[in-house]
Amino acid sequence: MAARPSAPRPPAQPDLKTAADLAPVLPMTAEVRDGHLWIGGVDTVELAREAGTALYVMDEAHIRTQLRDYVKWTRYHWPEVDVVYAGKAFMSLAMCRMVAEEDCCLDVSSGGELAFARRAGFPMERIYVHGNNKTPAELAECLDAGVGRVVVDSFEEMERLSALAAARGVTQRVLLRVTPGVEADTHDFIMTGAEDSKFGFGRNQGLAMQAVKRAIELPGLDFEGLHMHIGSQIFALHSFAKAIEVIVEFMREIADETGVQVRLLDTGGGLGVAYGVPDEPSTIKDYGKVVVDGIKEECEKHGLDAPRIAVEPGRSIVANAGVTLYTVGSIKVIPGIRTYVAVDGGMSDNIRTSLYDAHYEALIANKADQPREMVATVAGKHCESGDIVVNDAPLQCPEVDDILCVCATGAYCQSMSSNYNKQVRPGVVFVGDGAWRFVVRRETYDDLMRCEVE
Ligand code: LLP
Repeated sequence: MAARPSAPRPPAQPDLKTAADLAPVLPMTAEVRDGHLWIGGVDTVELAREAGTALYVMDEAHIRTQLRDYVKWTRYHWPEVDVVYAGKAFMSLAMCRMVAEEDCCLDVSSGGELAFARRAGFPMERIYVHGNNKTPAELAECLDAGVGRVVVDSFEEMERLSALAAARGVTQRVLLRVTPGVEADTHDFIMTGAEDSKFGFGRNQGLAMQAVKRAIELPGLDFEGLHMHIGSQIFALHSFAKAIEVIVEFMREIADETGVQVRLLDTGGGLGVAYGVPDEPSTIKDYGKVVVDGIKEECEKHGLDAPRIAVEPGRSIVANAGVTLYTVGSIKVIPGIRTYVAVDGGMSDNIRTSLYDAHYEALIANKADQPREMVATVAGKHCESGDIVVNDAPLQCPEVDDILCVCATGAYCQSMSSNYNKQVRPGVVFVGDGAWRFVVRRETYDDLMRCEVE
């Protein structure tokens, strides 16, 4: 589900903030030394010069801390919790390995993401497979790989998976994706009676119950439980609480009608993050309490045993761990209108601004201790006017060759990147303990032509 565009913003003003004031959106190891922005003990200005720009930089300590916080604050309330990192937010082999090392599971939503997990040696029993239209080939790949769980999204898929599993003489654990009729807005929830969604089985028209009954009777499938995902970039925890109320009530109905108890309840992802300094997302600690305690309490109310629980964070693991570094190439002052600062990247490495009207904080990494004294629009290098990275960004006074840093780009930027205008994709660098390494190298022109047939 796409993140909702944020509320209309007041016109930006120079805010005199320095990098120190941007701590809420920067990686946890960010600091200012000698006027430069450092992350993971690495000078980002030197890094940009050595590794080249545009460049995604990710703080390994930040990612591990987020994963550990999820494990800690969910299992604090109930030991039977899987923290399932949603690979669509950012995936690379190094990321898959980190998720495995941190005792987490992995959500893959395509055959390609599954291929990454396999290449990384990720334990297949810890894989959750998503997608609203998995192809027969993808379903076969899941069975052959021995994935832990397939989250079934349609009747056709259920029949296909059953036939494929039965033909192989295996039984696949499945969850059914249910649309609880609760949709999260960033700051609230909406009850969507119509359940107009391409995802999952709606409860209202009885489809979800019909799906459960079919999953129980089909050969080759082990109906383990339910999945829901109510949205992304959610600030209000009561949206999750409301959806949990609805889905546990449905678990009760399942027990009454079929005698089968749901053994696993997956509440999806969605916890919001700070993109702007004023944003105040909920903490992982509070989220763990609302979700895990909430499920336990609702189950008790309905006389059900508490199931195993899964949560599927993506954005809140990686968004603030990452920044994008660019080199300023040109500065256009249009008197009385605006100033454009053009960088060596754009909508090919960050589509979220043009797609969702997303807003980011920016700073000049080599002027990190200086106040943001002006406002400029950070534009990309692509052939269209909508190619904007940050609209009306308070910024230190920019000069050509400055290193411009856009904050909180660790989620859904690299994973949604493209080769528009045959732009090579930036590399991804992990930083930590004063060292850096490419985990994904920058593309070359040869990479761009790899699939050409001459
Ligand atoms: N589980 C499922 C089934 C999902 O569909 C998603 C995200 C997640 C977990 C992870 O949600 P998160 O914790 O990251 O909110 N491209 C958009 C975001 C789309 C989210 C899609 N599903 C963006 O750039 O904001």
